[in-house]
Amino acid sequence: MSEKDFIAHHQASIESGNFQWSAPSNIALVKYWGKKEKQIPANPSISFTLNTCKTITKLAFVKKDNKDSFSFDLLFEGQPKEDFKPKIQKFFERIDTYCSYLKQYHFTIDTENTFPHSSGIASSASGMAALSMNIMSLEKALNPAMSDAYFYQKASFLARLGSGSACRSIKGSVVVWGNHAEIEDSSDLFGVEFPSPIHENFSNYQDTILLVDKGEKQVSSTVGHDLMHNHPFSEQRFAQAHHNISSLKTILETGNLEAFIKITESEALTLHAMMMTSMPYFILMKPNTLEIINRIWKYRNTTQIPVCFTLDAGANVHVLYPENVRETVLQFIKDELLGYCQNGQYICDAIGTGAIKIL
Ligand code: DP6
Repeated sequence: MSEKDFIAHHQASIESGNFQWSAPSNIALVKYWGKKEKQIPANPSISFTLNTCKTITKLAFVKKDNKDSFSFDLLFEGQPKEDFKPKIQKFFERIDTYCSYLKQYHFTIDTENTFPHSSGIASSASGMAALSMNIMSLEKALNPAMSDAYFYQKASFLARLGSGSACRSIKGSVVVWGNHAEIEDSSDLFGVEFPSPIHENFSNYQDTILLVDKGEKQVSSTVGHDLMHNHPFSEQRFAQAHHNISSLKTILETGNLEAFIKITESEALTLHAMMMTSMPYFILMKPNTLEIINRIWKYRNTTQIPVCFTLDAGANVHVLYPENVRETVLQFIKDELLGYCQNGQYICDAIGTGAIKIL
């Protein structure tokens, strides 16, 4: 598939209607950090789709007379939210070539998250994924002959143009985004479901998200990605991501938890090492992030329970572990880790399957 395959052509006519989708957040195991023009990733990434942390978005549309510009109202939890509008306006502009029908309608976008407001959990992945699913429902209504495969592929393609990691929040439990020699049909343009069966050790894998710092990040992901241009270690880092996905492919197929832990933790620390070695350099971890990491290492050493961590571009810690040790690990988290969280806050999540149509 190339970019031009995503340009919408055939169009029926529809006056008005509405759709509603939920889309989950995702947590990368091999990280996307660095991109080229047009939201093309500098390296492939792979993620677990989450289940509980979601955005739910309703899209109401009605035909309008003026077809020269985009027109939409944005509601967050039922209230007008002006400060989200520029991001959506920019998204519509980016996808205009592929969805020329958008200018024919006035939209009301009504959106909410299942996770607490300003928890430091990025809502851009789930938010852009949920909006893209709704847009594809409209496109499918205009072109009912569209195949299911194309529907999900284009949804991921559009979501990527909103926020790179959002293309991994559409469909599947484990998703790869970016060309990789060993992942069949992988593409820089959209996410694909991990192609082989995943070992049962990873069924319902748990992700407990520890909310260490809910404040605004000092450096946005967009700025961070940009700092990978002219970064002294970028080439090695991009090559390492390819290598780590090859290793993780075998690990996910064979269920080797020890090897899984090594790659996952190394990737999290590498992501933050890239931030610390860019110019300007920055640190998004907090002292409590390191306290938690050390507690996890100590607990794993003494108990041999395969619990590990990963990080996204912030101070929060994702604690990953198999379902069969859930009770024990949750007790450890409550006893030893919650004291390092802001107001003791955490979210219990697990691997999910992707976006769900509500209306
Ligand atoms: C650290 O997808 O938020 O979470 O494409 O600029 O919107 P934009 O960036 P974004 O970057 C996410 C980076 C990450 C790693 C990952 O999810 O792979």
